[in-house]
Amino acid sequence: MSRLVVVSNRVADPRKTAAGGLAVALGEVLNNSGGLWFGWSGKLVDRPAGSPQPVRMHHAGQVTLATMDLTRVDYDAFYVGYSNGVLWPVFHYRLDLADFDAGYIEGYRRVNQLFARQLLPLLRPDDILWVQDYHLIPLAAELRALGCQQRIGYFLHIPLPPPLILAAIPGHDWLVKGLCAYDLVGFQSGADLEHFTDTIRSEAHAQDLGEGRWRVFNRTLQAGAFPIGIDVQEFNALTQGIEAVDMYERMRREYSRRKLLVGVDRLDYSKGLPQRMRAFRELLAKYPDTRNSATLIQIASPSREDVSAYTDILHELESLCGSINGNYGELEWMPVRYMHRTVARSRLPGLYRASRVALVTPLRDGMNLVAKEFIASQDPEDPGVLVLSRFAGAAEQLKEALLVNPYDTEATAAAIHVALQMPVEERRERHVAMLATIRRTDVHWWCDSFLHLLGQTEAHESGTPWL
Ligand code: ADP
Ligand code: F6P
Repeated sequence: MSRLVVVSNRVADPRKTAAGGLAVALGEVLNNSGGLWFGWSGKLVDRPAGSPQPVRMHHAGQVTLATMDLTRVDYDAFYVGYSNGVLWPVFHYRLDLADFDAGYIEGYRRVNQLFARQLLPLLRPDDILWVQDYHLIPLAAELRALGCQQRIGYFLHIPLPPPLILAAIPGHDWLVKGLCAYDLVGFQSGADLEHFTDTIRSEAHAQDLGEGRWRVFNRTLQAGAFPIGIDVQEFNALTQGIEAVDMYERMRREYSRRKLLVGVDRLDYSKGLPQRMRAFRELLAKYPDTRNSATLIQIASPSREDVSAYTDILHELESLCGSINGNYGELEWMPVRYMHRTVARSRLPGLYRASRVALVTPLRDGMNLVAKEFIASQDPEDPGVLVLSRFAGAAEQLKEALLVNPYDTEATAAAIHVALQMPVEERRERHVAMLATIRRTDVHWWCDSFLHLLGQTEAHESGTPWL
């Protein structure tokens, strides 16, 4: 059987807590199948730009982690500058936050070349490679240029915008061509897939061969939508675990007279946290029955603090939470409990289960696994309600959630009010339907269906020279 080689910027020990959908999902997958996981160690060294750092190998259960450090200069241009200062905002439809500094792209290309050069000697002829996310779009092209013949798949964890928005990135055609060097490209939703096919049709004259196959740059490329899921079984086990149960019981005791709402996110402007707070403030203002009877626990884990847009959102959020508590709080009740940190994964299900409502209201999100984790950890007899942004990839699947437009403060507040009042029969009905969906399309389904299709793609054709 072929060995699976996963390549991503972020590599995490699958046995430890990670905040971020990619690390959590791949940890689950590799824990089961075994294989090699290659990427950045998370460490920086003060060496000249582009200087190759040694690859360190260590074993974590079934998985071999192969990681290398980055130089500070490479990190600044590749990770902070291009990946998170250009691709992340544009792919999340935030052209206003993009910083198209010409220098960054060089660093992005340099680190992708470095990844290719350092990975190549570790590969076996029958390996299957699976490259993850926006940091590594040109990696297949770089590997092909070095003679790599193995099948290479690519999955984009974040949204892909429509062609006109993508076109705002100077030199975006190079990114599009880079995507076409893979054998299979996967997206989170049907909408993202459509944006991709619109792009290759209009910009690279791709010819539709049917069944997700395209003729483009003189080779055949397969493209599909593979909505990522969670490991429902593992999450159930976690929910029954001692730490989750303890968390659940403590929360239930503390909030016996009040209903709990919960938000769990990385602190990212795409997650719509200020909009969520404004909707909560509107709820307290417009529906007095919620005062002193509802508490919102918002956990926001620190993320990408080197990028200025992230520090801006931190200050905005702190000020909103402070003003809500200042205006509505009472001696024995604070409406918002905000924590800027990561919660241990073993305790999260207890917090979800004790909550009557989850607020998952991103302005744009590839999928959003928190929505699925919330559903998986509910008590089926007395489940909570998911308030979900229509702009999360998860909304394509979880139609029984209360879908909201997070830009519409009043309507979101009204939906939260409905969620808080919803009778148990209706809560059960919605929960059963969503649970069936997340079970059917769990993380193993995601991985198996992607890798199955990748295994079936035609043996590598070189096509147009890539670089
Ligand atoms: P993203 O990949 O953009 O971070 P997702 O919702 O898809 O968003 O995935 C986030 C993952 O990280 C989930 O598994 C979630 O449980 C975890 N996570 C996010 N924020 C926190 C936090 N504050 N504490 C603990 N885990 C978190
Ligand atoms: O899901 C999107 C994503 O960028 C993942 O690639 C990553 O695991 C997560 O968000 C956290 O981001 P970062 O790796 O920049 O901390």
